[in-house]
Amino acid sequence: MAMITTVQQHILQQQTEITGKEASGTFSWLLSGITLAAKMIEAKIRAAGLSDIVGAYGAENVQGEQQQKLDVYANQALLHCLGLRDSVAALVSEEDAEPVTFNRDPETGKYIIVFDPLDGSSNIDVNVNVGTIFSVLRRLPPEHGTLEESLLQPGVRQVAAGYVVYGPSTVLVYSSGNGVHSFTLDSSIGAFVLSGEHLRMPEQGGYYSANEANAGSWPAEYRAFLETVRSGGLGREYSSRYVGSLVADFHRTLLKGGIFLYPPTAKAPQGKLRLLYEANPLAFLAEQAGGLATTGSGRILELRPEGIHQRTPFCFGSRHEMDALARAVRA
Ligand code: AHG
Ligand code: MN
Ligand code: MN
Repeated sequence: MAMITTVQQHILQQQTEITGKEASGTFSWLLSGITLAAKMIEAKIRAAGLSDIVGAYGAENVQGEQQQKLDVYANQALLHCLGLRDSVAALVSEEDAEPVTFNRDPETGKYIIVFDPLDGSSNIDVNVNVGTIFSVLRRLPPEHGTLEESLLQPGVRQVAAGYVVYGPSTVLVYSSGNGVHSFTLDSSIGAFVLSGEHLRMPEQGGYYSANEANAGSWPAEYRAFLETVRSGGLGREYSSRYVGSLVADFHRTLLKGGIFLYPPTAKAPQGKLRLLYEANPLAFLAEQAGGLATTGSGRILELRPEGIHQRTPFCFGSRHEMDALARAVRA
C-alpha cells in the first residue's frame, strides 16, 4: 500500500526536523482546524448548483462588497473550526469588520489566524476556481504588545501561511518557513495527501497576469513595463492569463512562473488587494518558493499594517520579471 502523508503528519515531521525535539502538536492541531473547514467549504462548493448556496447573501461586508452566500458559509466554517482550538487567541476575517478575540491566557492562546474565507467570490456562480487564504501569526508576549498590536505585525513575522484552491482538484499549499508544500484532497479518504514538496517558482515564466481593463488608470510605469513584456523586451514571448481569483492566479504563477500585477488604479488608489489576508500570506509563499512579492517597489512582507483591512498594490512572480518591474517602477 502506497504510504500517504497528510498535512498533519507533514507538519509534525517538519517541526521535529527543525526543532530536533518532539513536536508539541499544537500547530498541527491548529492546521487541522483549517483543513476541516476547507473540507466543509469544498463540499458546499462541489454541490453549489444543487443547493441554495450560490448567489448574493443580501448583505454587504466591511469591504462594501455584496457578500455571496458562500462567503458567509466559508467564514462561519472557519470561525467555528478554529474557534474551538484553544491555541487560538484571535481570528481576523475579510468578512468581519472586527477581529474575533478569545480571552485565553497568552500561554495557551498563542496564535492569531488571519483569513480570506472565500477568495474570488465573483467567480463562484460561473463555476471558476475560488480559494481560501490563511496566515498565522504568533501573539506578542504581553510585555511586547497587546493582542490588538499582535494583529498588525508585518508579514515577516508570519509563522505560516497557505491557501486552498478549489478547482478541478482541491489543493492546499502551505509553508511554515521551511519550503512550500502542496497537498491534494483525496475525497475517497477525506484527507489532504502530500502531492508536492519544496515547490520552486521558475526563475522566469511564460505568463503575465493583470486586469488590463484598469491599465488606463495605472501609474504610467506599469503600462510601460507591460509594453516591454509584450514586445519581447524580457527575452521571451508571453501569454496573458487572468482568472480574477487571486488564489488561482497565484497558484499558476507558483507552478509556471511569470508575473502578476495589481497596481494602484483610479478606483483603488491604495491598491485593491488586502494586505493581511491576501498579500502577506501569498508574499510569504512566493519568497519561500524563490520568487518575489512587492508593492511594485517595496517588499510586501516589510509593510507595517495600520489596519486589519488595509489594502495594498500587489505584484508577485518570478525573479526575472520582478527585477525588471522594479527597474521599470524606479525608472
Ligand atoms: P475576494 O473575492 O476575496 O473579495 O477577492 C477578490 C479579489 C481577488 O481574488 C482577485 O485577484 C481580485 O479581486 C480581482 O479584482 P478585479 O475584478 O478588480 O480584477
Ligand atoms: Mn480575496
Ligand atoms: Mn473573500
